[in-house]
Amino acid sequence: MQTSLFKKKRKSWDKGGNKFTFIDLFAGIGGFRIALEDQGGKCLFSSEIDKECVKTYAANFNDYPSGDITEIKPSSIPKHDILCGGFPCQPFSISGKQKGFQDTRGTLFFNILEIIKEKTPKVVFLENVKHLQYHDKKRTLATIIKHLEELGYKTEWHLLNAKDFGLAQNRERIIIIGNKHKHFSFSKIKTYEPKIIKDILEKNGNFEYLKPSEFTILPKGKWRKQASGLIFCGYRNKSIRINGTRPNTEHLSRVHKQPNRIYHIDGTHPTIPSQESSGRFWIFDGKKVRKLTLNECFRLMGFPDDFEKVSSNGARYNQIGNAVAIPMIREVTHQILNQLI
Ligand SMILES: C[S@@+](CC[C@H](N)C(=O)[O-])C[C@H]1O[C@@H](n2cnc3c(N)ncnc32)[C@H](O)[C@@H]1O
Repeated sequence: MQTSLFKKKRKSWDKGGNKFTFIDLFAGIGGFRIALEDQGGKCLFSSEIDKECVKTYAANFNDYPSGDITEIKPSSIPKHDILCGGFPCQPFSISGKQKGFQDTRGTLFFNILEIIKEKTPKVVFLENVKHLQYHDKKRTLATIIKHLEELGYKTEWHLLNAKDFGLAQNRERIIIIGNKHKHFSFSKIKTYEPKIIKDILEKNGNFEYLKPSEFTILPKGKWRKQASGLIFCGYRNKSIRINGTRPNTEHLSRVHKQPNRIYHIDGTHPTIPSQESSGRFWIFDGKKVRKLTLNECFRLMGFPDDFEKVSSNGARYNQIGNAVAIPMIREVTHQILNQLI
């Protein structure tokens, strides 16, 4: 089998000359790893509990992540410069039950703390959902920061959006950076012009179109480009929300459940969520309505086309919805190196 360009590039980082080392906690399918390797980093350890993610990670990085982080002794983890972790966001996400630290997945942050205590990395680099900032009347984020500060890390956080890093997706995420010596300055991070959905579409494919009887496109005058760059232009002909909706409000996206909304390809795409395992992301190209392909979903997160996708389609949708926006993580890493390493 021919080695893909992607794999060749990944392999090249194994040849020494790395600028820094890192560990990849809650590794998923390796979004952090791609971004940090691109900046010259060498991954010394990774951990991921989900078997399908592990399969995908191994197929791409030729490296099997260790499993459940709660079972791993911090002393067995190698010393490293940057600790990365997009710890599970469901306990803090607005689409989950928001149990936060009451949810066992929420307490995984404390496993991260144990590793930091033991290994004292130069930089702690965490990612989570936007809603973490408001969770439990803002106490959750305050607790996270307090614990990091108690370990001697000057900690800063900021909300960043994938669309500001050359991606066609409105995806806001909290980035938390801790360092023993200096406060990180988010203002130095370079941003890019957003793309629109049209820019990332595949030319050919086995596209899944809706029949004209299955959708409604609103009159053009009712399409409104939102501040986020989204253009809601129609909906699938399914029942609309009843509670709290007035007649003649079909032109408002909130009247329609997320998997029934149709977005115009001249705008950005809404956040790809991890729970949508059937990939109901509908786009309108001016003539027809079709689903985004899986490859297009991976492009919306900045994954290269030759990233190997080895799980079932349902698992792939979950994996990409959970992943990080790679160019965003790459730019943050670039600034970490400039400012802190
Ligand atoms: C938000 S996702 C991170 C995705 C990753 N940043 C990426 O780019 O693909 C969180 C990940 O943590 C994993 N996870 C949850 N509990 C875990 C545990 N106890 N030990 C290791 N990994 C765990 C989940 O399976 C999930 O893949």
